Amino acid sequence: MSTDGIVLLKEDHKEIRKLFREFEQASEKPARTKGKIVERILEALTVHTYIENECMYPEVRKLMPDLADHVLESYEEHHVADVLCVELAAMSPDSERFDAKTTVLIENVTHHMDEEEQDWFPKVRAGLGRKQLQELGARMLELKKKAPRKPSQPSAIKKAVDAVMS
Ligand SMILES: [Fe+2]
Ligand SMILES: [Fe+2]
Repeated sequence: MSTDGIVLLKEDHKEIRKLFREFEQASEKPARTKGKIVERILEALTVHTYIENECMYPEVRKLMPDLADHVLESYEEHHVADVLCVELAAMSPDSERFDAKTTVLIENVTHHMDEEEQDWFPKVRAGLGRKQLQELGARMLELKKKAPRKPSQPSAIKKAVDAVMS
């Protein structure tokens, strides 16, 4: 199995987009059903954001300083998504705001993944060697094992609150 870091992240994106479509197609379904889909969305996003924050982003920033602006913008986009995820995790699917908040999360993350895939991952691929990308992929696969699965974990909330307060 290839552990190319960009392939790995794009596979995650594909999985996340599939879950987004599942939610969008469930608009007439009961709140409980939509709540279950959102739980899976939050888990997928929490793990994916973690491995990018802990590995891909800092490494790209270090190895390709020219891409620092893209990386910094991406951290901010992750932060917005984190806040929405923490709020959704604490919200009942029966709330009148639940679907609206999920839709905003989907719009934000879709835009973010499009930018990664189209704007700067290709530059990372051009700038780093095959071997470096393989190493990053292997490290991210390892990180996935210990990644948090729920945005409601204290660290995520603390980070969100800290950021708002600072
Ligand atoms: Fe990202
Ligand atoms: Fe991503």
